[in-house]
Amino acid sequence: MDLIQDLNWRYATKSYSNQRISNEKLDFILEAINLSASSVGLQPYRIFAIDNAELKSTLGANSFNKQIAQSSHLLVFAAYNKVTTQHVRDLVELTAEKQGVTEESLDGLFTAANTYFTSRSDEDNKLWAERQTYIALGTALIAAANAKVDATPMEGFDAQLFDELLGLNEKDLHSIVILSLGYRDNVNDYLAHLPKVRIPIDEMVTKIG
Ligand SMILES: Cc1cc2nc3c(=O)[nH]c(=O)nc-3n(C[C@H](O)[C@H](O)[C@H](O)COP(=O)(O)O)c2cc1C
Repeated sequence: MDLIQDLNWRYATKSYSNQRISNEKLDFILEAINLSASSVGLQPYRIFAIDNAELKSTLGANSFNKQIAQSSHLLVFAAYNKVTTQHVRDLVELTAEKQGVTEESLDGLFTAANTYFTSRSDEDNKLWAERQTYIALGTALIAAANAKVDATPMEGFDAQLFDELLGLNEKDLHSIVILSLGYRDNVNDYLAHLPKVRIPIDEMVTKIG
């Protein structure tokens, strides 16, 4: 099974070479992210794909993760600060357009989703948005492995600095997790030749017949 081989091949790369990834591979990973599942289909996050050496250096300056500056490209996963009725309206409008139905026929979806979000605290909705964002991160990791692009998911970054430099507050977003992309430095990355560390499958999974 190719996918299992891809997932065994990938690892959280610690050191990158200076080889850059192609636009095609970048777009492949971004497309996969956009196809990721999200609760209600709301996609409550946005991705910033950074291909600017100076910006990457500034963003990585306060972090122990040198991959931020070293990477070919850096993806920033930013979650919504709030979920609003307008977000639900936008989803209904898009669904109607894509599925060729009227917005009125989607009143049930609108009411159910809007009631769900408005009955909860902003903080709960923010945490919900962050959880959806991690699903997109998972999709990106799988897509990168499939494209034989190395990647490192990272929470070790200065979120305040990222939010400030990317103007995320003004967009009602906050950075939650980042993903560097590039190619492993086979010589200097101590992890490049080490076996994967995972618990036995039987410990992970309980099959209930
Ligand atoms: C949400 C998340 C945050 C992570 N943060 C970092 C990080 O800041 N720096 C880093 O080098 N690795 C980070 N990792 C990588 C994990 O340490 C790594 O995925 C884990 O040890 C499993 O190893 P593997 O991905 O190489 O198979 C993170 C992984 C995830 C999923």
